[in-house]
Amino acid sequence: MIRLENFTKEYTRDKPILDYVNLVVSRGEWCMITGPSGTGKTTLLFVLGFLDPGNLGSYCLDDRLISQDGRFAIKDKELALLRMKKVGFLFQDSRLLPYLNVLDNVSFPHWLYYGNRAEAKKKAMFYLEAFGLEALKTRKVQGLSAGEKHRVALARALINEPEIILADEPTGNLDGLNSQRLMKHLQEIHDRGTTIIMVTHDKSLLSFGDKEFSLNKKV
Ligand SMILES: Nc1ncnc2c1ncn2[C@@H]1O[C@H](COP(=O)(O)OP(=O)(O)OP(=O)(O)O)[C@@H](O)[C@H]1O
Ligand SMILES: [Mg+2]
Repeated sequence: MIRLENFTKEYTRDKPILDYVNLVVSRGEWCMITGPSGTGKTTLLFVLGFLDPGNLGSYCLDDRLISQDGRFAIKDKELALLRMKKVGFLFQDSRLLPYLNVLDNVSFPHWLYYGNRAEAKKKAMFYLEAFGLEALKTRKVQGLSAGEKHRVALARALINEPEIILADEPTGNLDGLNSQRLMKHLQEIHDRGTTIIMVTHDKSLLSFGDKEFSLNKKV
């Protein structure tokens, strides 16, 4: 279970972006994050993905303290390992590594975590096949379509079988068909018990979620 208590993050002194946020997401839940541009949705995902300890308040995952009052409660190396294992990131612009091919992009987090390159490639092939991407495995990611890039990014996010998927407007630059496809994949992942936290501006997607957490503009 994810629990943020009185969580505050400010980039500029006394101008909090996240202002005493209280958020609980149970294991296996799908939580949609909404709110106008600039209200801290991406910042919130960075916090939940152990990339930012914030300034005040606490973040607990499965009753383990991750950060408190601006400091991580876990040492860097363990935190990096925990991130690689627990969390899969999905960004609006997919953020694949342009100089690697599709197979290497997907297998990389597994190789990094478990240290066995052959095993990582085998696992990556499993996900490439699952998403109909096997024919693209040797392609550099630069020339892929937006929809293909998103499916590659989803395969990469899943390869270490994370408990949590953090998705930042994952359909933001997809056409209707590719958006539907991606949502179908996310739905299947959710049905298998993965927690999903997804930022979206698209009201028609809210019904995929179990609940909505809305961030408001500061006055
Ligand atoms: N590294 C940073 N340094 C200073 N300010 C930042 C930094 N990152 C984000 N901000 C500011 O914090 C605010 C929240 O940013 P964030 O990216 O979390 O918003 P968002 O809700 O995701 O917006 P959008 O819907 O446009 O993606 C913005 O005003 C942004 O300019
Ligand atoms: Mg954002």
